[in-house]
Amino acid sequence: MIVTTKELYDHAYGQYAVGAYNINNLEQTMGLFRGNIQSQSPFIIQLSKGARGYTDKRMLEGIIRSAGEVFPEAIFAVHLDHGDEQTCYDCIDSGFYSSVMIDASHETFEENIAITRRVSQRAHDNGISVEAELGMLGGVEEDIAVDEDNACLTNPDEAKEFVEKSGCDSLAVAIGTSHGAYKFTGGQGLHFNRIEEIQKILPGFPLVMHGSSSVPQDEVRRINAAGGQLKEGAKGVDENEYLPAAKLGVTKVNIDTDGRLVWTRVHREFFSEKPEDFDLRGPGKIFMQAYADFIAHKNEMLGSAGQLDDVRESLKK
Ligand code: G3H
Ligand code: 13P
Ligand code: ZN
Repeated sequence: MIVTTKELYDHAYGQYAVGAYNINNLEQTMGLFRGNIQSQSPFIIQLSKGARGYTDKRMLEGIIRSAGEVFPEAIFAVHLDHGDEQTCYDCIDSGFYSSVMIDASHETFEENIAITRRVSQRAHDNGISVEAELGMLGGVEEDIAVDEDNACLTNPDEAKEFVEKSGCDSLAVAIGTSHGAYKFTGGQGLHFNRIEEIQKILPGFPLVMHGSSSVPQDEVRRINAAGGQLKEGAKGVDENEYLPAAKLGVTKVNIDTDGRLVWTRVHREFFSEKPEDFDLRGPGKIFMQAYADFIAHKNEMLGSAGQLDDVRESLKK
C-alpha cells in the first residue's frame, strides 16, 4: 500500500529512521519488497532522475505498482530523489508520488528558498510533501560535483529560516556525510552536535540524511577479489550511528551505494565462479535474495524492523 511520506514520518519521528532506498530495475524492486517484508518494515522507495530515464519512468512506476500487488502487506511511500524543478512538477502532476525532493542546494540561499517555495506550493496543492536540501554534502550528486573540502555543514539558524520561508516538509541536512563509495578515509563520524542543534531549533521537524551508505570494506574486498577495481580504505557511515541520529530527528536515511555494492559483488563473483554461464536469471536470483537480506539488515540498524503492524494500526487512526 502506497502511503504519504508524512504518515511514515509521523510514526517514526524520534524513535527510528525510515530507510529510503533507490531502485532502478525489477530485481532491485523484488529484493527491496522481500527485504522489507522479511524485516516487517515500512520503507520509502526513491527514484532519481537517472533511474527514471534508465528505461522509461512508466516501466519503473509499473514495476512498483505490480510489487504493491505481489506484496499486499507492504507499506511504503514513493519519493523523487534529488529532483530539479521540472522533474518535481512532472512527478507531482503524475499523481503517483508520495513526495518529491527539490535539490536546489547548489543555488544561493535566497534562490534555494524561492525554488523550494514554488515546488512546495504546487506539491501541497496536490497533497504531496516536499523534501529540500540546505548545506553541501561532499561527493557527487548526480552531475554536481562538490569537493569534500568545500563541504559545509548545515547552519541551524539558516535551517530554521529556510524551513519557515520555503514551506518544505522535511530537510536534508549536511551533517558529515557524502554520496558515493569514496567517503571518509579517516575516522570521521556523524556531527551529532550539529544534528542536536538543528533539532533544538526545529523540534519535531523531520531531518533527512543523504549519503548514508556504510561502504562495508569486506564487500569492497570481495568485489576486488573477483576482478573489481574499487578503491579500498574509504569508509562510510557507521551503521551503529543510524539509531542515535534517528533519536535526534533524522527520520529518513538514504541508502543507494551499499545496494550497488551488493549487485556488483554478486555479479562479479557469479561470473568469475561460472565463466561458462550466460543465463541472466542465475545471478539475478542470487542478487534478489542478497538484496533482500541487505535491506532487512539495514532496517534492523535503522530501528524500522518490526514496525509494520504498528504503522498499519496508526494509519487507521
Ligand atoms: O544521491 C544519488 C543517488 O545515489 C542516486 O544516484 O542519480 O546515479 O541514480 P543516481
Ligand atoms: P549513498 O551514496 O551513501 O548511498 O547515498 C544515497 C543518497 O543519498 C541518495 O539520495
Ligand atoms: Zn542523496
